[in-house]
Amino acid sequence: MIKKIQKSLEIDNLLKIYFPHYRRTNDPFENIAIYKDKEIKGIVVYSIIYERSEINYILVMKNYRHQNIGTQLLEFAIDEIKKNKCQNISLEVNTDNLTAVNFYLKNNFEIKAVRQNYYGSKDAYLMVKELR
Ligand SMILES: CC(C)(COP(=O)(O)OP(=O)(O)OC[C@H]1O[C@@H](n2cnc3c(N)ncnc32)[C@H](O)[C@@H]1OP(=O)(O)O)[C@@H](O)C(=O)NCCC(=O)NCCS
Repeated sequence: MIKKIQKSLEIDNLLKIYFPHYRRTNDPFENIAIYKDKEIKGIVVYSIIYERSEINYILVMKNYRHQNIGTQLLEFAIDEIKKNKCQNISLEVNTDNLTAVNFYLKNNFEIKAVRQNYYGSKDAYLMVKELR
């Protein structure tokens, strides 16, 4: 039920609703996977840039949270990233977003730094998961 897809207007619009800072790019390093049965329940956007990788966005629709969908999407992205022999995965997350911070901690990401004013007036944690 998780599959890689091309970027589309539908995905852009879903991401825009949840991430006010979301900007559409034509970044060739960016990958998208969705969790879908009758409808799209979750989306992960991740970049693989040679030996570096990033989780750009992960989103589970409100009605489907706490059903392990976020974890499955993250594991899908991690498997893809590992195939590309990346050394680690990094991401930025709003320090106020405790749900997401806890979600990443549970999935063995570590807080490495605070990026001041990363989201306008809001700070972000730089979180990293080592892969070897
Ligand atoms: C973060 C997010 C993707 C998690 O998705 P999810 O499908 O609910 O996550 P899972 O069901 O796989 O949860 C895995 C674990 O993460 C942690 N977690 C998830 N939601 C949590 C919450 N509200 N509070 C505390 N911990 C939470 C828990 O440890 C959870 O395990 P549990 O369900 O056994 O308690 C989802 O909450 C979301 O879409 N949030 C809005 C978008 C966002 O903030 N994305 C991250 C920034 S890019």
